[in-house]
Amino acid sequence: MANSKIIIAIDSYEYDQASHILEQLNPSLCMIKIGSITFNSLGKEFIYLAHGKGFEIFLDLKLHDIPNTVQKSIEGLITLPIKMLTIHTSGGIKMMQAAMQVVKDIEIKIFGVTVLTSLSDEDTNYIFRREAQDQVKAMLDLAEEARIDGIVCSPHELHLVTPRSSLLSITPGIRFTPSDDDQRRIMTPKQAIELGADFIVIGRPITESNNISKSLNDLSEQIK
Ligand code: C5P
Repeated sequence: MANSKIIIAIDSYEYDQASHILEQLNPSLCMIKIGSITFNSLGKEFIYLAHGKGFEIFLDLKLHDIPNTVQKSIEGLITLPIKMLTIHTSGGIKMMQAAMQVVKDIEIKIFGVTVLTSLSDEDTNYIFRREAQDQVKAMLDLAEEARIDGIVCSPHELHLVTPRSSLLSITPGIRFTPSDDDQRRIMTPKQAIELGADFIVIGRPITESNNISKSLNDLSEQIK
């Protein structure tokens, strides 16, 4: 498992931009997250490129399908040099168990997304008929029962995760200052780490900064 708690999201479908970001990151200070934006366009090649530069990789494809489809999708990914990948907990216990079956003898860890950090309580009331925390709690029950390695949630729900010792936590929704972008349930890096996040995911505040390398160094210092 990675030494650093920082995961930088590289969300670009342009090779030049994605590799420019990569060049300025330091593999001893962070892992990188490759999600659907980058993977769908730049594919496995980009994963090999990042791996070749010494980065540990979190493949965030948020798989959400029937158990057989998720299982076979993961079977097709496990030859990649990745450390962690994501599925949606709302795919249900059988789907999560099918995913875990594929990685039972290898080192890749499977994390389940609980509720997207872009959703506010108003959104979750509309979609799930309950507040975000209650929906997260329900998804944590499923994740625990399916015995997946960890979950993805907002830092605001970390207090629901830390008592569940079998589950590691990854928290996106990390911001240095209040922001008006699409993220809603946000917190600073330091607060998230203090609340027990095993990993924090941060994208735009680092990758869109004027000095990516310095921003990563500063972030690393902040959470020491
Ligand atoms: O740029 P930003 O810091 O918002 O990037 C957050 C990253 O984490 C994005 O790649 C997004 O897809 C991902 N993510 C998220 N909320 C989740 C799961 C993943 O924001 N619940």
